[in-house]
Amino acid sequence: MKVVKKISLMQKTVDKLRCEGKSIGFVATMGALHKGHIELIRKAKKENDIVVVSIFVNPLQFGPKEDYKKYPRPITKDLKICRDEKVDFVFYPSAEEMYPYRENLTYVEVSKLQYILCGKYRPGHFRGVATVVVKLFNIIKPHKAYFGEKDYQQLKIIQQIVKDLNFDTEIVPVATLREESGLACSSRNSYLSSSEYKVANSLYKSLLYCKDLILKKKWNIKKCIKKSKEYLSTLLSEIKHKIQYFEIYDTNLNIVNDDISKISPKTELRIFVAVFIGSTRLIDNIGFKI
Ligand code: PAJ
Repeated sequence: MKVVKKISLMQKTVDKLRCEGKSIGFVATMGALHKGHIELIRKAKKENDIVVVSIFVNPLQFGPKEDYKKYPRPITKDLKICRDEKVDFVFYPSAEEMYPYRENLTYVEVSKLQYILCGKYRPGHFRGVATVVVKLFNIIKPHKAYFGEKDYQQLKIIQQIVKDLNFDTEIVPVATLREESGLACSSRNSYLSSSEYKVANSLYKSLLYCKDLILKKKWNIKKCIKKSKEYLSTLLSEIKHKIQYFEIYDTNLNIVNDDISKISPKTELRIFVAVFIGSTRLIDNIGFKI
């Protein structure tokens, strides 16, 4: 496995591999790798000749009051995981290498999609994600790139960019990997205290609860959301918490407020939740057909 820190060397390397007819699979990460990331890497290994993993904590996607400085950076452990998974290249640039003028002068924005859900509460976040992913695509030039449904809004934004800007890269979605308790694997789970960790699967429980209300009780969507938020608050009652949003969309991220009877059968819906548990912000979502 080679660790590449320079953009120019990474570009030269992938150019050569492409000339040799090798297919390149890419997994973009911010490090602090866990089972969810490994799932993406394994899928990429299966489907490509060469796998490139990037490890870069992207300052552009963190708000001024967010956890950029505190974000975990266990690079030795991460490289070991990549080596064990037989990754071919780890692209591990510094912030100066990626943003030599400290800030970017060109940004990528996806209108509409970047202002809903997390975008509403994290201004600039998706502009930062979109910009770094486009840079990474121009550096790695992947045939296929793997993104988790755990960050479903991010996945949809990247699919939109690829379509609108004609990137010759296939975006492959990967289902959310969860702990046995149902808690979605996330690098930010390491911020949780043991008592917070114990109840962190409440997000997933409340998503399943809401899905059940929709499918079994067939109440209107607003009532299902209200009841699910109450259920979630009860599950978290012992712990300091704040529900940021609990919303339902279709797979194209159009909000769904209608009565269930008005939604055409077989429509795929997605329920999204974001909660502060203590000072840690966790997100989760599930999809299902009505
Ligand atoms: P990061 O949070 O490190 O996640 C990297 C990739 O792993 C993303 O595609 C994310 O959706 C996926 N992932 C995380 N947890 C997962 C889980 N439990 N199951 C399945 N996939 C999971 O997302 C980012 O980094 C950054 O925004 C990035 C795209 C790298 C741009 O900086």
